[in-house]
Amino acid sequence: MSYSFQIKDAAGYQSAYKKSVSDPEGFWGDVASSFYWRKKWDKVLDWNFKEPNIKWFVNGKLNITENCLDRHLGTLGNRPAIIWEPNDPEEHHRVITYRDLYNKVSQFANVLKNNGVKKGDRVCIYMGMIPELAIAVLACARIGAIHSVVFGGFSAQSIADRLYDANAEYIITCDGAFRGNKDIPLKSVIDDALVGCRFVKKVIVATRTRTPVSMLKGRDVWWEDEIKKVETMGNPDCPAEEMDAEDPLFILYTSGSTGKPKGVVHSCAGYMVYTTYSFVNVFQYQPGDIHFCTADIGWITGHSYIVYGPLAAGATTLMFEGVPTWPDAGRFWDIIDKYKVNILYTAPTAIRSLMGFGLGPVQGHDLSSLKVLGTVGEPINEEAWHWYDEHIGKKRCPIVDTWWQTETGGVLISNMAGITPGKPAHATLPLPGVQPVLVDEKGVELEGNGVSGNLCIKHPWPSILRTTYGDHERCRVNYFATYENMYFTGDGALRDEEGNYRITGRVDDVLNVSGHRIGTAEVENAINMHAGVVESAVVGYPHDIKGQGIYAYVVFGQMHGDEALTRQDILQTVTRVIGPIAKPDKIQFVSGLPKTRSGKIMRRILRKVAEGETENLGDTSTLLDPGVVEEIKNGKI
Ligand code: PRX
Repeated sequence: MSYSFQIKDAAGYQSAYKKSVSDPEGFWGDVASSFYWRKKWDKVLDWNFKEPNIKWFVNGKLNITENCLDRHLGTLGNRPAIIWEPNDPEEHHRVITYRDLYNKVSQFANVLKNNGVKKGDRVCIYMGMIPELAIAVLACARIGAIHSVVFGGFSAQSIADRLYDANAEYIITCDGAFRGNKDIPLKSVIDDALVGCRFVKKVIVATRTRTPVSMLKGRDVWWEDEIKKVETMGNPDCPAEEMDAEDPLFILYTSGSTGKPKGVVHSCAGYMVYTTYSFVNVFQYQPGDIHFCTADIGWITGHSYIVYGPLAAGATTLMFEGVPTWPDAGRFWDIIDKYKVNILYTAPTAIRSLMGFGLGPVQGHDLSSLKVLGTVGEPINEEAWHWYDEHIGKKRCPIVDTWWQTETGGVLISNMAGITPGKPAHATLPLPGVQPVLVDEKGVELEGNGVSGNLCIKHPWPSILRTTYGDHERCRVNYFATYENMYFTGDGALRDEEGNYRITGRVDDVLNVSGHRIGTAEVENAINMHAGVVESAVVGYPHDIKGQGIYAYVVFGQMHGDEALTRQDILQTVTRVIGPIAKPDKIQFVSGLPKTRSGKIMRRILRKVAEGETENLGDTSTLLDPGVVEEIKNGKI
């Protein structure tokens, strides 16, 4: 497969960029023409950021799975679509060709239909990283059901919140999931989530760990049994549902600065076009390359660069069930050697954690197949960048530092491997079709180079979020109301003298812990659920491996037991309410929080203390009780 939209050199980048700004509709119309449409669009783009109302490929009809599967069968049918590496290296891996994947998706799409799932229904998917997860996602898309994948590390309460918000009546899960030396009982977490959710009609359970599970009569069914039923029905095919370009494809929940995660909605056509376009261009994918993205499909990176982007491009995508450090810290390097991986796409946190094991685990592995390295999810520090470059890429592989978000659907700012130069710790340049701007507090655009400000985008790209599920106003207020006529990213950035962007991090109350987004308000709400907690304030602080750690200041009432035990109780509460990923790294008990006379918590002070700053805390004269600050400084952990 060749890609008509693949940019081949620096001059090609420049001319594509110019065209994308002077004639965005012409530019995207050309890119979209290389996909399979049931009916071509009438108009490329209709938009305003005021409401917002954004429509790409207006009245076009398609199904994304026909682009990911059917259209490849003639030429790539016997080529691997998914290579699956299990958690345990002793277990056999699986290779699923495009033909196999087509068959499995069709079969499971028929299972969904048999169980009553219809176009537009929301299906919650809570699974480990097994091929059935990708199959479930694609099967939903095949029949036009809207998937909402929830990462396997979220708690029963978080699942229940998401089920309610999306009114999801169907769930696909596993008995359990293997992750390193752990065996996570997913179905049992689902059972807890469903105690109060009576509207869920069906739970389809795939077997993986053989952990004992309780199956509720009439509601819970086994994946394998349901497959057998459709097998006996004859025709294994499942015709793809014809979707409008703007029909929703999926919902993915992500944290914002309020206590409640938002259901980001992506639509069929724009998302397909942009993820494929960015996949091919950023990584400079060549037919036959093996692409290994280490993310979990529970996050946007997995949606866009394990499943949809690579498959629509006819690529071979490697899916890994385990963790980078089990059975040992050479796991990634084993996999690269075993499958002769060409592209490795991972997170700075993983790189930093592997750096900590020294070069021993890297040695003895043949990494010469690697051509391109990528990072995503958080700023990469220079030390980690150089380690990745020297010891993994052996200074011959470009590193693409890809900046993007759940809301953007695909990479917006990044160098393109071998086409535009990288620069340590810089995401560098926007992809053609993306128009970033930096603005000051008042929304005034900062022109020229050598400036820093808040990062906004001033023209839509095809995979921009369309709404937040069930609450369009929330989408408007969050992203389109801060600055007029711009999408506000929530990130700060600087533009260097050459025009390269460096993302400096979130400017709102969102933390980025190991590349995972967590709202401080969410963690505070969870801590405050503990019976003994009076109030709390959560801030981020620099963490050597995770990028940011979670620091919680807690005002506690009567303690039962000592402080250490109480800390454990609070961690347990957060695990119950959100999941282990949101557990604070540090908890400091305080007798009060620094507040202004109007009752507002002065987070600036708390942030500085958490960062280790004790001197220049700024103006504290407006505080209700300045004495609190001394106590907080003295008690710092
Ligand atoms: O702060 C930015 C950071 O991750 C945030 C988006 O998180 P999420 O929606 O979970 O998506 C992560 C995967 C795309 C951004 O607002 N971020 C993402 N990529 C980078 C980054 N920060 C710096 N450099 C990056 N390459």
